[in-house]
Amino acid sequence: MKYGLAFIGIIAGTLLTLAMMLHWERPPMASTQVGPRGTGMDLIQNPRTMAVLKAANVAPESDPPAQLSGVKVKDSKDYVNVKVLGDLDVEEFNRLMGAITSWVSPEQGCTYCHNPENMADDGLYTKVVARRMLQMTRQINTMWTPHVQQTGVTCYTCHRGNPVPANIWFKNDGGPHAAGMSASRQGNNLASKSVGLTSLPYDPFTTLLAKGAQIRISGTEALPTGKPGASIQDTEKTYALMIHMSESLGVNCTFCHNSRQFASWAESRPQRVPAWHGIRMVADVNETFLVSLQGVFPANRLGPSGDVAKVNCATCHQGVNKPLYGVSMVKDYPELRVPNP
Ligand code: HEC
Ligand code: HEC
Ligand code: HEC
Ligand code: HEC
Repeated sequence: MKYGLAFIGIIAGTLLTLAMMLHWERPPMASTQVGPRGTGMDLIQNPRTMAVLKAANVAPESDPPAQLSGVKVKDSKDYVNVKVLGDLDVEEFNRLMGAITSWVSPEQGCTYCHNPENMADDGLYTKVVARRMLQMTRQINTMWTPHVQQTGVTCYTCHRGNPVPANIWFKNDGGPHAAGMSASRQGNNLASKSVGLTSLPYDPFTTLLAKGAQIRISGTEALPTGKPGASIQDTEKTYALMIHMSESLGVNCTFCHNSRQFASWAESRPQRVPAWHGIRMVADVNETFLVSLQGVFPANRLGPSGDVAKVNCATCHQGVNKPLYGVSMVKDYPELRVPNP
């Protein structure tokens, strides 16, 4: 009997090891030193995943530059309902319409946003959303250069040929759960994809990707001497956000931090600075643009608690440290890098 159990144990152990070798992140792994020697600041990446990411994050080729007609959209009587792109040359405008079709709705075509009987009609919600998206893209490319630098973004950075970007988030209360002692699990204990299958709070976004969010949780003194410190719940949320950031960029914590002192900016890598701006940029994009479209989206596009889809780090990054490996598409579409009035 005793040996029987041991035997089953050995078989189970062997199967588990095999499963680990074949399906989990098995060696060899690629390791790149990113910090001073001896600090353990290494970027550990799976070469097999990296190959898949390489293939999935290729920027499409830009259309050839427009042959300018010398006539601006706002001066042409053929265009009657252009509110954002009026300053463009007519040819530039047409080229952009073609490009956004290939970036956002390549299968559906122009009619995803337009009533073919009357292109000026604003009857389709998608057109109203797209107009706001034009302003949003311009805002990112002009106001958020501390994050996107001169690389910038186009519709393709998020959409990748899909009307709804692959990575979006909604407010998540975790659905109905038991009352009484188990009433509040603080969003924990349901391993969730949003936080890399950890059982950290699965919605760190609502509170931490918001203007004025309190992400810092480390105490500045050895003992809690009267000053209110961060709660365990707040700490878990910060860690959940950090897991999301790492997963979205396909990096380890040491891509930004020296893990002997997570809070210290002096010991962090320079990459932590764009990340800091990124958090603020995402809050701005969501609050200024997506939330303002709340009433425009139909019910089937809203989340379980009726809120609009929002952006997080994964929406643009999609698993790599610079979206599309830092290839700038906007350099060929300078009309998307014009400040909003
Ligand atoms: C993803 C949505 C989207 C797609 C797809 C799209 N458009 Fe547009 N289109 C817009 C928006 C938004 C405006 C208004 C821009 C503004 O107000 O500055 C517009 C305006 C226009 C206008 C000006 C109409 C007027 O008189 O006011 C024309 C013409 C036009 N688009 C042509 C096209 C063509 C042709 C295609 C397909 C190759 C196309 N669009 C695909 C969103 C889209
Ligand atoms: C920072 C990321 C981001 C960028 C850049 C971006 N979008 Fe979006 N877009 C979103 C998100 C998030 C949604 C909401 C998803 C949904 O529709 O449920 C969305 C929705 C849309 C929709 C509605 C689709 C639908 O079926 O509901 C259209 C149309 C659209 N975007 C057009 C554009 C155009 C055109 C551009 C470029 C000028 C652009 N977007 C740039 C993130 C982005
Ligand atoms: C892409 C860069 C980046 C990555 C990767 C990253 N962090 Fe952070 N981390 C930041 C930034 C930026 C802040 C400061 C946020 C703020 O103040 O708004 C921060 C803050 C923190 C804090 C709070 C420090 C304090 O002052 O209280 C902790 C703890 C932390 N990170 C842990 C982690 C852990 C653990 C990981 C890996 C799972 C990780 N971080 C991955 C950029 C990063
Ligand atoms: C609107 C699209 C967009 C979103 C959303 C976004 N980023 Fe970025 N991010 C970019 C672009 C574009 C770059 C490349 C800038 C450059 O060329 O240096 C970049 C660069 C970075 C870098 C520098 C990487 C390096 O190798 O130097 C970090 C770190 C970063 N982002 C973190 C974040 C974090 C964290 C979030 C979420 C809080 C986030 N980003 C959200 C577009 C985005």
